[in-house]
Amino acid sequence: MKKALPVLVWGASGQAEVVTDILGQSDTYQIKAYVDDVNISGTPQTFNGIPVVHNDFDIRELQKSGLNLAIIAVGNITARVSISKRLLKLGFKFINAIDHTSIISKRAKIGINNVIKPGVIIDPMVEIGNHTYVGAGVTIAHHSQIGNFVNIAGGSNISGHVVIEDKVHIGTGTVIKDRVLIGKESIIGAGAVVVTNIPPQSVAIGVPAKPTGKKSANK
Ligand SMILES: CC(C)(COP(=O)(O)OP(=O)(O)OC[C@H]1O[C@@H](n2cnc3c(N)ncnc32)[C@H](O)[C@@H]1OP(=O)(O)O)[C@@H](O)C(=O)NCCC(=O)NCCS
Repeated sequence: MKKALPVLVWGASGQAEVVTDILGQSDTYQIKAYVDDVNISGTPQTFNGIPVVHNDFDIRELQKSGLNLAIIAVGNITARVSISKRLLKLGFKFINAIDHTSIISKRAKIGINNVIKPGVIIDPMVEIGNHTYVGAGVTIAHHSQIGNFVNIAGGSNISGHVVIEDKVHIGTGTVIKDRVLIGKESIIGAGAVVVTNIPPQSVAIGVPAKPTGKKSANK
């Protein structure tokens, strides 16, 4: 039997629970430690019975035992950007966490450090960058391009030939019409139906979705 590869999971809350479930579905990876550098005092020293570390010194100690793979389990896009830089600087390589109930075309391209939750359907010719979260039950139709550090919340339906640029947050249950482009760092409110292009850094809500005039903070 192949030995499970040790992995560091950055995060020790809700997203980390999801990633823990997904990685636990196979013998490929074994979680060696979680990182929580936010709730340092209140955090228990273990999460799901596995050690939680709080700083780069502790992480380097773990690296000495051969740990060099990581995945980020943090929903906030801005935090995910800075954590990814830290992990790369420390010399980590990223894995993906893809739930076994997802159906992903062999002709779709998926980068690294992505979390793909249960029941996702991804068509052929879809491209997903790196550090992107795809929520439960999301569908992404053929030829759509999803950028880096994107969140697509659960139950959203993305039609064909859609482009979602970097650091976009798509709210729960959003519907996106085919060939629409969503500009970088935008937020689409929960339940929106997007039928026209959305400019970068917009916050857009409603049916049909319209920018509110607010500037998004997804940097
Ligand atoms: C769109 C969004 C970013 C706006 O957040 P916000 O700026 O804090 O907005 P507020 O809650 O102050 O609401 C402002 C107004 O917009 C309305 N509104 C907020 N979200 C809305 C939405 N998704 N659709 C329609 N209207 C919405 C509010 O009812 C309120 O209306 P009012 O001024 O008439 O009272 C947020 O509501 C949202 O939908 N985020 C996505 C959440 C999500 O999908 N989370 C999944 C996590 S994985």
